[in-house]
Amino acid sequence: MSQPSSPLWYSDNLAFWDERAPIHESSEFYGVDRWLAGEEHLRPFELEEMGSVDGKTLFHPQCHFGQDTLGWARHGAQVTGLDFSPNAVSQAQRLATRAGIEARFLCGDVYEAPTLCDGQQFDIVYTGLGALPWLHDLTKWAETMAQMCAAGGHLYLAEFHPIASVFDSPTPELPLRAHNSYFDHEWHDTAEDMTGTYADRDAATSNNDTHEHVWTLGEVVTSIITAGFELQFLHEHDYTLYQWSTALERTDRGYEFPPEAARIPMMYSLRAQKR
Ligand SMILES: C[S@@+](CC[C@H](N)C(=O)[O-])C[C@H]1O[C@@H](n2cnc3c(N)ncnc32)[C@H](O)[C@@H]1O
Repeated sequence: MSQPSSPLWYSDNLAFWDERAPIHESSEFYGVDRWLAGEEHLRPFELEEMGSVDGKTLFHPQCHFGQDTLGWARHGAQVTGLDFSPNAVSQAQRLATRAGIEARFLCGDVYEAPTLCDGQQFDIVYTGLGALPWLHDLTKWAETMAQMCAAGGHLYLAEFHPIASVFDSPTPELPLRAHNSYFDHEWHDTAEDMTGTYADRDAATSNNDTHEHVWTLGEVVTSIITAGFELQFLHEHDYTLYQWSTALERTDRGYEFPPEAARIPMMYSLRAQKR
């Protein structure tokens, strides 16, 4: 659908994530010690919508340092995670050992998954929050997911809702302002001097350039259907994991607007069956 405007997209994004993976692993946000002690970190809607994964093979592309991948293994799945960051993958392997969980983690580009997995197809392809903006070719991604999924198997996707990226939160008096176009088909080359990460705003980082794209809901759903999946549901969720607006209040689910405020979807999830 959209091509990267810079050949640097791969190396810049890789450097960005390779630097952040160790920061994330030791962050309060990811709470690895709590997770190792048994805390559930998969979102309640993911657990409910995914149903039983016991005994199923599960592929998790863009798995970061593997916490969610291993979370599904705790529920009985035989998991394979893949990420292009060598740091993230070796951390995932170490985390599996520390947790005493059997898992396979591979290092490479998401588009190379069929080759990296030697043609293996999975009962479930799970892709988690914060993965899609890093893709430069959504059509090719959906085709790759279809290749990774066994016939009759499922693609389950949870992602931040693109409508939330339309708004910013300039001041406490104006906590929600429509600022960006929803139909923004540009690939964002952000050569920003913004250090840190969502998991640790104050972390000192030197690889801060990223190349990202917010795909619309229509683009995501259409790419999945066109690649050979049948959509089974699309759910929108009225809470998120970050306080990106001062109007968002901390609740036991994450962050949400107060009941009296206008509410917008901030995450979505879908399941599609491979035809
Ligand atoms: C926001 S993180 C995913 C977060 C994950 N859902 C979690 O919370 O643990 C995005 C991940 O995508 C990976 N990634 C980005 N582009 C990729 C690519 N082309 N191939 C493989 N992995 C990629 C990054 O290394 C990073 O680990």
